Amino acid sequence: MAKTINGFSKLPKLEKIKWLAEHFCADAALATRDFATWQHPEAAVQRVIDGFAENTVANYVLPYCIAPNFLINGKTYAVPMVIEESSVVAAASSAAKFWQERGGFHAEVLGTVKLGQVHFYWPGNPQKLRAIFPDLKARLLDSCSDLTANMEQRGGGILDIELIDFETVEPEYYQLRASFETCDSMGANFINSVLERLAATLEDFFTLFPGLSDVERDAEVVMSILSNYTPQCLVRAWVECPIHSFADLARAQGMDAAALAHRFARAVRIAQIDPYRATTHNKGIYNGIDAVVLATGNDFRAIEACGHTFASRAGQYRSLSNCIVREGIFRFELEIPLALGTVGGLTSLHPLAKRSLEILGNPSALELMCITAAVGLAQNFGAVRSLITTGIQQGHMKMHLTNILNHLAATSEEAAAAQHFFQNQTVSFSAVRSFLEEARS
Ligand code: MEV
Repeated sequence: MAKTINGFSKLPKLEKIKWLAEHFCADAALATRDFATWQHPEAAVQRVIDGFAENTVANYVLPYCIAPNFLINGKTYAVPMVIEESSVVAAASSAAKFWQERGGFHAEVLGTVKLGQVHFYWPGNPQKLRAIFPDLKARLLDSCSDLTANMEQRGGGILDIELIDFETVEPEYYQLRASFETCDSMGANFINSVLERLAATLEDFFTLFPGLSDVERDAEVVMSILSNYTPQCLVRAWVECPIHSFADLARAQGMDAAALAHRFARAVRIAQIDPYRATTHNKGIYNGIDAVVLATGNDFRAIEACGHTFASRAGQYRSLSNCIVREGIFRFELEIPLALGTVGGLTSLHPLAKRSLEILGNPSALELMCITAAVGLAQNFGAVRSLITTGIQQGHMKMHLTNILNHLAATSEEAAAAQHFFQNQTVSFSAVRSFLEEARS
């Protein structure tokens, strides 16, 4: 059976599903029913969801969870998180509770600058390009005035356009690096529209500007696009407490508070030193960050790509968080670029993204940056706290027990009995299977 098709995107949704099921699924009838079932019951809402992407055949469901009791800059939030990994929300909630009793999370936005680039080749004299750049820059800015008017009214717009010279790395290669303030929007569409206008203006300039030689008129604009690396769109979140506040936590592990605080700092230090550990350490941070980013309708790929580049800014991939234990004080902090928006994009279109923002009190982009960074730090705190004490598997497998029980088709009575039994037992797939086999025999 031919598995290629022309005009797939033109087919009505049910036809798409049928074609897919018939050509790629073992049980076509069942698969058709599956895909046809995973639709929103209200046609109008489904139409909006279908509009987010091409060739939509169904909605892929992920858990929408709440981590309550997040005290951030003196305000308490219940934070929506969309995540499939068991124990992430439990860890965030537990860390939130822990810090709620110790002054909560603190966060401040260090900058909100976003960037975009127009990449071009200039075969002429570099000094001449630099000399004509002020004139060029004025023309570039002027050419975008219709696109930037609204954003300027909201307090944003183009902040600057620089000429960056890459001649020493790649002959004739330059770029326009434009910086933007996009207020409460993530601003991708605004930035890309402006950049494409800048690119067109630059091309016109090469064609029309008087006094360019024939060689210089061959200058070539290669592409224009925003940069997802936004090191100046930065937020810092931190927690701080006297070491003795760790007494209860430490006692439960048979440790003293200072030893626990120092071991924590060492664990973070290891992630500063070793990229293998840093990757996992930062993944724990993004467990929290991505979940909030998804729940609020923001672009988690952009956020992750940026964060990993930022983590490598010193030439080696390192931990995004840092821990200092000094003069009886434990301080744990995270500095992370987060280009988030609370208006535009999916934020008002996705029904649950809209609800997430409502639950968070309809925050500004700056406030959302603070909340998201605090959740990332909480997640990191929870993971490292487990790693240096009990290990993560205890909590992780407890949460994973539900997945194993579902996998083994446990009834609700069997599940309840298993939950009770495994309170004090190590959870593993085989242990749960044996438990069920015994119960069933
Ligand atoms: C698991 O999703 C995340 C952790 O591995 C993070 C870490 O090791 O710090 C627990």
